[in-house]
Amino acid sequence: MFPRNAISLDPRLSAIRDLAGSCGNFADIGTDHGRLGAHMLLAGLCRFAQLTEVSERSLAKARELIGALGLSDRVRFLVGDGVEALEDPPDVAVIAGMGGRTIAGIVERGREILAHARIVMQPNVAAPELRLRLQRAGFRIADEMIAKDGRRLYVVIAAEAGRMELSPEEIEVGPVLLKNRPGALADYAAFKIRVLKKALADAEGAELRRKLGIWEALNHGDR
Ligand SMILES: C[S@@+](CC[C@H](N)C(=O)[O-])C[C@H]1O[C@@H](n2cnc3c(N)ncnc32)[C@H](O)[C@@H]1O
Repeated sequence: MFPRNAISLDPRLSAIRDLAGSCGNFADIGTDHGRLGAHMLLAGLCRFAQLTEVSERSLAKARELIGALGLSDRVRFLVGDGVEALEDPPDVAVIAGMGGRTIAGIVERGREILAHARIVMQPNVAAPELRLRLQRAGFRIADEMIAKDGRRLYVVIAAEAGRMELSPEEIEVGPVLLKNRPGALADYAAFKIRVLKKALADAEGAELRRKLGIWEALNHGDR
């Protein structure tokens, strides 16, 4: 018997685990190292796991970990793009550690097999686009969290089939985060303000460089 906490999780994966809850058939799409699936099985949070990867090499890492823990008989290792690799519809599907656009594409293509699943997503970027595309694909956001690991902040979103009508503020910040105002939201807002101000300065700089280029070309007789 392995102890419940034989696989410890960092704050990001812990938040994903907390929003996933417990289930029979768990799926981790883009599992890579396989730590989340191993933790879920050892902690009794799921009975069975489908661990998928688009990369055979990445899946080998999960295969090795799960094998070393003696859990291979409760796991299917599947190679393929997104949910297309799954053998059975999962109760909970995690799609984490990718860009929001990649995650949105996986959910849109996998709408039918995910119709009865709780989907837990952790987009590294483009969370607002992911929220909007979830709404358009017929999913509603059921819960959200911000995980903090040192100076790094991660948004985690749980969704289920259903309707929602998000306001522009809810798309940008997240409907549950906006309503519950968790402590980490202030840190996340400060981070977003820094990123947006820098992008604005870069954009303004680009426009000035474009204008400068026109005048310099004129002065050098290129135009
Ligand atoms: C940065 S890792 C994240 C691993 C793990 N999910 C986590 O959050 O710690 C992203 C993984 O997603 C996989 N991936 C990217 N696009 C995928 C897709 N369309 N289908 C399945 N896996 C994908 C990559 O091969 C990579 O191993």
